Amino acid sequence: KQAKSMALSDVMTRANDFYRHQLRSAQPAIAYLKGRGLTGEVAARFGLGYSPDEWDSLRQVFPDYENDVLVESGLVIDKSEEGGGHRKRYDRFRGRIMFPIRNTKGQVIGFGGRVMDGGEPKYLNSPETPLFQKGSELYGLFEARQAIREAGYVLVTEGYMDVVALAQLGFPQAVATLGTACTPIHVQKLVRQTDEVIFSFDGDNAGRRAARRALEACLPHASDNKTIKFLFLPKEHDPDSYVREMGAPAFEAQIREAMPLSQFLLQEIIGENDLRTLEGRAHAQFAAKPLLQALPASGLRLQIVRSVAQATQTTPAELEVLFELEKPVAR
Ligand code: UTP
Ligand code: MN
Ligand code: MN
Ligand code: MN
Ligand code: MN
Repeated sequence: KQAKSMALSDVMTRANDFYRHQLRSAQPAIAYLKGRGLTGEVAARFGLGYSPDEWDSLRQVFPDYENDVLVESGLVIDKSEEGGGHRKRYDRFRGRIMFPIRNTKGQVIGFGGRVMDGGEPKYLNSPETPLFQKGSELYGLFEARQAIREAGYVLVTEGYMDVVALAQLGFPQAVATLGTACTPIHVQKLVRQTDEVIFSFDGDNAGRRAARRALEACLPHASDNKTIKFLFLPKEHDPDSYVREMGAPAFEAQIREAMPLSQFLLQEIIGENDLRTLEGRAHAQFAAKPLLQALPASGLRLQIVRSVAQATQTTPAELEVLFELEKPVAR
Protein backbone atom coordinates (compact mmCIF):
# COMPACT_ATOMS: atom_id res chain seq x y z
CA LYS A 1 0.00 0.00 0.00
CA GLN A 2 1.24 3.44 -0.92
CA ALA A 3 2.20 5.61 2.04
CA LYS A 4 -0.49 8.11 3.01
CA SER A 5 1.52 10.82 1.36
CA MET A 6 -1.41 12.20 -0.61
CA ALA A 7 -2.99 15.09 1.27
CA LEU A 8 -6.76 15.41 1.30
CA SER A 9 -6.50 18.76 -0.46
CA ASP A 10 -4.47 17.19 -3.29
CA VAL A 11 -7.07 14.46 -3.68
CA MET A 12 -9.81 17.05 -4.04
CA THR A 13 -7.86 19.16 -6.52
CA ARG A 14 -6.98 16.18 -8.70
CA ALA A 15 -10.55 14.91 -8.64
CA ASN A 16 -11.81 18.35 -9.64
CA ASP A 17 -9.33 18.47 -12.56
CA PHE A 18 -10.57 15.05 -13.65
CA TYR A 19 -14.26 16.00 -13.45
CA ARG A 20 -13.63 19.24 -15.35
CA HIS A 21 -11.79 17.34 -18.02
CA GLN A 22 -14.59 14.77 -18.27
CA LEU A 23 -17.14 17.51 -18.89
CA ARG A 24 -15.45 18.49 -22.16
CA SER A 25 -16.35 15.22 -23.81
CA ALA A 26 -19.65 14.51 -22.00
CA GLN A 27 -22.21 15.66 -24.57
CA PRO A 28 -25.32 15.05 -22.43
CA ALA A 29 -23.80 17.02 -19.56
CA ILE A 30 -22.87 19.90 -21.85
CA ALA A 31 -26.38 19.83 -23.31
CA TYR A 32 -27.85 19.86 -19.81
CA LEU A 33 -25.85 22.95 -18.80
CA LYS A 34 -26.68 24.70 -22.07
CA GLY A 35 -30.32 23.80 -21.57
CA ARG A 36 -30.17 25.64 -18.27
CA GLY A 37 -28.80 28.67 -20.02
CA LEU A 38 -25.24 28.48 -18.76
CA THR A 39 -22.33 29.61 -20.90
CA GLY A 40 -19.02 27.75 -21.08
CA GLU A 41 -17.42 30.83 -19.60
CA VAL A 42 -19.40 30.75 -16.35
CA ALA A 43 -19.04 26.96 -16.12
CA ALA A 44 -15.27 27.43 -16.32
CA ARG A 45 -15.32 30.24 -13.78
CA PHE A 46 -16.95 27.91 -11.24
CA GLY A 47 -14.91 24.89 -12.31
CA LEU A 48 -17.98 22.81 -13.12
CA GLY A 49 -17.35 19.22 -14.11
CA TYR A 50 -18.91 15.86 -14.78
CA SER A 51 -18.52 12.57 -12.96
CA PRO A 52 -18.79 9.68 -15.45
CA ASP A 53 -21.61 7.22 -14.89
CA GLU A 54 -19.28 4.41 -13.84
CA TRP A 55 -18.59 2.71 -10.51
CA ASP A 56 -14.87 3.45 -10.34
CA SER A 57 -13.95 6.17 -12.83
CA LEU A 58 -11.67 7.74 -10.21
CA ARG A 59 -9.30 4.79 -10.72
CA GLN A 60 -8.10 6.72 -13.78
CA VAL A 61 -6.80 9.50 -11.51
CA PHE A 62 -5.91 7.42 -8.47
CA PRO A 63 -4.41 4.06 -9.54
CA ASP A 64 -4.06 3.35 -5.81
CA TYR A 65 -7.86 3.25 -5.46
CA GLU A 66 -7.47 1.25 -2.23
CA ASN A 67 -5.80 4.16 -0.44
CA ASP A 68 -7.94 5.09 2.56
CA VAL A 69 -7.40 8.78 1.91
CA LEU A 70 -9.94 8.43 -0.91
CA VAL A 71 -12.55 7.23 1.57
CA GLU A 72 -11.54 9.98 3.98
CA SER A 73 -12.06 12.50 1.16
CA GLY A 74 -15.65 11.31 0.73
CA LEU A 75 -15.09 10.67 -2.98
CA VAL A 76 -15.02 6.91 -2.55
CA ILE A 77 -17.47 4.91 -0.48
CA ASP A 78 -16.24 1.83 1.36
CA LYS A 79 -18.90 -0.75 1.99
CA SER A 80 -16.62 -3.54 3.22
CA GLU A 81 -17.60 -3.05 6.86
CA GLU A 82 -21.27 -3.52 6.09
CA GLY A 83 -20.67 -6.86 4.34
CA GLY A 84 -23.19 -7.64 1.65
CA GLY A 85 -22.58 -6.64 -1.98
CA HIS A 86 -19.62 -7.79 -4.00
CA ARG A 87 -18.50 -4.25 -4.71
CA LYS A 88 -16.51 -2.97 -1.78
CA ARG A 89 -15.40 0.41 -3.01
CA TYR A 90 -17.02 2.70 -5.49
CA ASP A 91 -17.21 6.36 -6.52
CA ARG A 92 -19.71 8.43 -4.58
CA PHE A 93 -20.42 10.70 -7.55
CA ARG A 94 -21.57 8.96 -10.70
CA GLY A 95 -23.24 10.55 -13.69
CA ARG A 96 -23.59 13.96 -12.06
CA ILE A 97 -22.80 17.57 -12.89
CA MET A 98 -20.10 18.47 -10.39
CA PHE A 99 -19.95 21.77 -8.50
CA PRO A 100 -16.63 22.12 -6.64
CA ILE A 101 -16.90 23.85 -3.28
CA ARG A 102 -13.87 25.96 -2.44
CA ASN A 103 -12.71 27.43 0.84
CA THR A 104 -11.71 31.08 1.04
CA LYS A 105 -8.16 30.18 -0.01
CA GLY A 106 -9.56 28.69 -3.21
CA GLN A 107 -8.82 25.05 -2.34
CA VAL A 108 -11.46 22.53 -3.37
CA ILE A 109 -12.83 21.03 -0.15
CA GLY A 110 -15.99 19.29 -1.33
CA PHE A 111 -18.47 18.81 -4.15
CA GLY A 112 -22.14 19.05 -4.88
CA GLY A 113 -23.29 16.78 -7.68
CA ARG A 114 -26.56 17.19 -9.59
CA VAL A 115 -28.36 14.43 -11.46
CA MET A 116 -29.41 15.34 -14.98
CA ASP A 117 -32.72 13.47 -14.90
CA GLY A 118 -35.32 13.15 -12.16
CA GLY A 119 -33.12 10.84 -10.05
CA GLU A 120 -32.80 11.02 -6.28
CA PRO A 121 -31.27 12.73 -4.52
CA LYS A 122 -31.28 15.70 -6.87
CA TYR A 123 -28.06 16.95 -5.31
CA LEU A 124 -25.55 14.70 -3.63
CA ASN A 125 -23.04 16.50 -1.43
CA SER A 126 -19.65 15.54 -0.06
CA PRO A 127 -19.86 14.29 3.51
CA GLU A 128 -18.14 16.26 6.24
CA THR A 129 -14.40 15.63 6.23
CA PRO A 130 -11.47 17.19 8.12
CA LEU A 131 -11.43 19.76 5.27
CA PHE A 132 -15.14 20.36 4.89
CA GLN A 133 -17.63 21.49 7.51
CA LYS A 134 -20.99 22.27 5.98
CA GLY A 135 -22.21 24.51 8.75
CA SER A 136 -19.47 27.03 8.12
CA GLU A 137 -18.75 26.94 4.38
CA LEU A 138 -20.55 28.98 1.74
CA TYR A 139 -20.66 27.92 -1.88
CA GLY A 140 -19.22 30.56 -4.18
CA LEU A 141 -17.63 32.76 -1.52
CA PHE A 142 -14.15 32.37 -3.01
CA GLU A 143 -15.40 33.28 -6.48
CA ALA A 144 -17.57 36.14 -5.16
CA ARG A 145 -15.16 37.92 -2.84
CA GLN A 146 -14.03 40.67 -5.17
CA ALA A 147 -17.58 41.27 -6.43
CA ILE A 148 -18.89 41.51 -2.85
CA ARG A 149 -16.33 44.20 -2.12
CA GLU A 150 -17.29 46.10 -5.26
CA ALA A 151 -21.06 45.80 -4.77
CA GLY A 152 -20.88 46.53 -1.04
CA TYR A 153 -23.23 43.65 -0.25
CA VAL A 154 -23.54 39.89 -0.52
CA LEU A 155 -26.55 37.95 -1.77
CA VAL A 156 -27.17 34.71 0.10
CA THR A 157 -29.12 32.04 -1.78
CA GLU A 158 -30.05 28.40 -1.20
CA GLY A 159 -28.59 26.75 -4.26
CA TYR A 160 -25.59 26.05 -6.44
CA MET A 161 -27.51 26.97 -9.59
CA ASP A 162 -28.70 30.23 -8.05
CA VAL A 163 -25.11 31.33 -7.50
CA VAL A 164 -23.92 30.33 -10.98
CA ALA A 165 -26.93 31.81 -12.80
CA LEU A 166 -26.77 35.07 -10.85
CA ALA A 167 -23.05 35.37 -11.61
CA GLN A 168 -23.72 34.88 -15.30
CA LEU A 169 -26.55 37.39 -15.40
CA GLY A 170 -24.80 40.24 -13.63
CA PHE A 171 -24.85 39.40 -9.91
CA PRO A 172 -21.46 37.83 -9.15
CA GLN A 173 -21.80 38.83 -5.47
CA ALA A 174 -23.90 35.75 -4.63
CA VAL A 175 -23.13 32.77 -2.39
CA ALA A 176 -25.20 29.81 -1.17
CA THR A 177 -25.57 27.84 2.02
CA LEU A 178 -24.93 24.18 1.27
CA GLY A 179 -28.28 22.48 1.52
CA THR A 180 -28.26 23.26 5.23
CA ALA A 181 -29.85 26.00 7.23
CA CYS A 182 -27.97 29.27 7.49
CA THR A 183 -26.02 29.10 10.75
CA PRO A 184 -24.65 31.85 13.02
CA ILE A 185 -21.17 30.80 11.79
CA HIS A 186 -22.24 31.51 8.20
CA VAL A 187 -23.53 34.93 9.27
CA GLN A 188 -20.36 35.72 11.16
CA LYS A 189 -18.34 34.87 8.07
CA LEU A 190 -20.59 37.06 5.91
CA VAL A 191 -20.56 40.15 8.12
CA ARG A 192 -16.77 39.92 8.22
CA GLN A 193 -16.76 40.35 4.42
CA THR A 194 -19.22 43.17 4.05
CA ASP A 195 -21.58 45.59 5.79
CA GLU A 196 -24.72 44.42 4.02
CA VAL A 197 -26.16 40.93 3.71
CA ILE A 198 -29.24 40.25 1.57
CA PHE A 199 -30.89 36.85 1.83
CA SER A 200 -32.61 35.67 -1.31
CA PHE A 201 -34.14 32.27 -0.76
CA ASP A 202 -36.66 30.37 -2.86
CA GLY A 203 -40.22 31.70 -2.89
CA ASP A 204 -41.66 28.35 -1.80
CA ASN A 205 -42.50 27.33 1.77
CA ALA A 206 -39.08 25.73 2.28
CA GLY A 207 -37.46 29.02 1.30
CA ARG A 208 -39.72 30.89 3.68
CA ARG A 209 -38.69 28.56 6.51
CA ALA A 210 -35.04 29.00 5.51
CA ALA A 211 -35.49 32.77 5.78
CA ARG A 212 -36.97 32.42 9.26
CA ARG A 213 -33.98 30.32 10.34
CA ALA A 214 -31.57 32.77 8.75
CA LEU A 215 -33.27 35.54 10.70
CA GLU A 216 -32.61 33.65 13.93
CA ALA A 217 -28.99 33.02 12.89
CA CYS A 218 -28.55 36.75 12.22
CA LEU A 219 -29.86 38.09 15.50
CA PRO A 220 -26.65 37.55 17.51
CA HIS A 221 -24.72 39.44 14.82
CA ALA A 222 -27.17 42.24 14.17
CA SER A 223 -25.53 45.53 14.98
CA ASP A 224 -26.09 49.17 14.24
CA ASN A 225 -23.43 49.34 11.55
CA LYS A 226 -24.53 46.27 9.59
CA THR A 227 -27.55 46.01 7.30
CA ILE A 228 -29.36 42.71 6.93
CA LYS A 229 -32.25 42.32 4.48
CA PHE A 230 -34.56 39.63 3.16
CA LEU A 231 -35.76 39.43 -0.39
CA PHE A 232 -38.93 37.42 -0.92
CA LEU A 233 -39.50 36.09 -4.43
CA PRO A 234 -42.85 35.01 -5.85
CA LYS A 235 -43.80 31.47 -4.74
CA GLU A 236 -42.92 29.76 -8.02
CA HIS A 237 -39.43 31.24 -8.31
CA ASP A 238 -35.91 30.89 -7.02
CA PRO A 239 -33.20 33.44 -7.85
CA ASP A 240 -32.06 31.39 -10.85
CA SER A 241 -35.51 31.09 -12.42
CA TYR A 242 -36.44 34.66 -11.51
CA VAL A 243 -33.43 36.36 -13.04
CA ARG A 244 -33.71 34.20 -16.18
CA GLU A 245 -37.41 34.77 -16.71
CA MET A 246 -37.83 38.31 -15.46
CA GLY A 247 -34.38 39.70 -16.26
CA ALA A 248 -31.63 41.44 -14.34
CA PRO A 249 -33.41 44.82 -13.93
CA ALA A 250 -36.39 43.08 -12.26
CA PHE A 251 -34.06 41.28 -9.87
CA GLU A 252 -32.27 44.58 -9.25
CA ALA A 253 -35.64 46.03 -8.23
CA GLN A 254 -36.20 43.08 -5.88
CA ILE A 255 -32.86 43.85 -4.25
CA ARG A 256 -33.79 47.52 -3.81
CA GLU A 257 -37.09 46.58 -2.21
CA ALA A 258 -35.71 43.87 0.09
CA MET A 259 -37.19 43.86 3.58
CA PRO A 260 -34.98 45.11 6.42
CA LEU A 261 -34.36 42.64 9.25
CA SER A 262 -36.38 44.76 11.70
CA GLN A 263 -39.46 44.61 9.51
CA PHE A 264 -39.22 40.85 8.99
CA LEU A 265 -38.66 40.39 12.70
CA LEU A 266 -41.74 42.44 13.60
CA GLN A 267 -43.78 40.56 11.03
CA GLU A 268 -42.70 37.25 12.57
CA ILE A 269 -43.53 38.51 16.07
CA ILE A 270 -46.95 39.77 15.22
CA GLY A 271 -47.67 36.80 12.98
CA GLU A 272 -51.31 35.75 13.05
CA ASN A 273 -51.97 37.40 16.38
CA ASP A 274 -54.95 39.71 16.61
CA LEU A 275 -53.51 42.75 18.34
CA ARG A 276 -57.00 44.06 19.10
CA THR A 277 -57.33 41.39 21.77
CA LEU A 278 -55.43 41.20 25.03
CA GLU A 279 -54.54 37.54 24.38
CA GLY A 280 -53.28 38.34 20.89
CA ARG A 281 -50.99 41.03 22.29
CA ALA A 282 -49.71 38.66 25.00
CA HIS A 283 -49.06 35.97 22.38
CA ALA A 284 -47.07 38.42 20.30
CA GLN A 285 -44.99 39.30 23.34
CA PHE A 286 -44.43 35.60 23.97
CA ALA A 287 -43.20 35.20 20.39
CA ALA A 288 -40.98 38.26 20.71
CA LYS A 289 -39.18 37.20 23.87
CA PRO A 290 -36.63 34.66 22.53
CA LEU A 291 -36.01 36.75 19.41
CA LEU A 292 -35.29 39.95 21.31
CA GLN A 293 -33.19 38.07 23.85
CA ALA A 294 -30.96 36.93 20.98
CA LEU A 295 -30.30 40.53 19.89
CA PRO A 296 -27.29 42.18 21.49
CA ALA A 297 -28.05 45.42 23.29
CA SER A 298 -27.98 48.10 20.62
CA GLY A 299 -29.81 51.01 19.14
CA LEU A 300 -31.54 48.52 16.84
CA ARG A 301 -32.82 46.46 19.75
CA LEU A 302 -34.04 49.57 21.49
CA GLN A 303 -36.00 50.57 18.37
CA ILE A 304 -37.50 47.13 17.99
CA VAL A 305 -38.48 46.92 21.67
CA ARG A 306 -40.22 50.27 21.20
CA SER A 307 -42.15 49.02 18.20
CA VAL A 308 -43.21 45.83 19.97
CA ALA A 309 -44.22 47.87 23.03
CA GLN A 310 -46.33 50.14 20.88
CA ALA A 311 -47.96 47.25 19.02
CA THR A 312 -48.77 45.39 22.23
CA GLN A 313 -49.81 48.41 24.29
CA THR A 314 -46.99 48.22 26.82
CA THR A 315 -43.96 50.37 27.52
CA PRO A 316 -40.38 49.57 26.52
CA ALA A 317 -39.43 49.50 30.22
CA GLU A 318 -42.15 46.92 30.97
CA LEU A 319 -41.00 44.77 28.04
CA GLU A 320 -37.36 44.94 29.11
CA VAL A 321 -38.42 43.49 32.46
CA LEU A 322 -40.73 40.90 30.89
CA PHE A 323 -38.03 39.80 28.44
CA GLU A 324 -35.27 39.88 31.09
CA LEU A 325 -33.14 41.94 28.71
CA GLU A 326 -29.75 42.80 30.12
CA LYS A 327 -28.92 46.46 30.18
CA PRO A 328 -26.15 47.60 27.85
CA VAL A 329 -22.96 47.50 29.86
CA ALA A 330 -20.60 50.45 29.80
CA ARG A 331 -17.09 49.36 28.90
P1 UTP B 1 -33.56 23.27 -4.52
O1 UTP B 1 -34.43 22.10 -4.51
O2 UTP B 1 -34.18 24.61 -4.44
O3 UTP B 1 -32.63 23.12 -5.79
O4 UTP B 1 -32.51 23.10 -3.35
P2 UTP B 1 -32.05 24.24 -6.75
O5 UTP B 1 -30.83 24.83 -6.08
O6 UTP B 1 -33.11 25.18 -7.18
O7 UTP B 1 -31.49 23.36 -7.93
P3 UTP B 1 -32.05 23.19 -9.41
O8 UTP B 1 -32.37 24.54 -9.94
O9 UTP B 1 -33.22 22.28 -9.35
O10 UTP B 1 -30.87 22.55 -10.10
C1 UTP B 1 -31.70 24.16 -2.90
C2 UTP B 1 -30.35 23.61 -2.47
O11 UTP B 1 -30.52 22.61 -1.47
C3 UTP B 1 -29.53 21.62 -1.61
C4 UTP B 1 -28.62 22.06 -2.74
O12 UTP B 1 -27.57 22.84 -2.22
C5 UTP B 1 -29.56 22.90 -3.57
O13 UTP B 1 -28.87 23.78 -4.44
N1 UTP B 1 -30.10 20.30 -1.93
C6 UTP B 1 -31.29 20.17 -2.58
C7 UTP B 1 -29.37 19.19 -1.60
O14 UTP B 1 -28.28 19.29 -1.02
N2 UTP B 1 -29.87 17.95 -1.95
C8 UTP B 1 -31.04 17.80 -2.62
O15 UTP B 1 -31.41 16.66 -2.94
C9 UTP B 1 -31.78 18.94 -2.92
MN1 MN C 1 -20.62 49.66 2.78
MN1 MN D 1 -36.19 24.89 -3.09
MN1 MN E 1 -34.22 26.37 -5.73
MN1 MN F 1 -33.43 26.15 -9.06
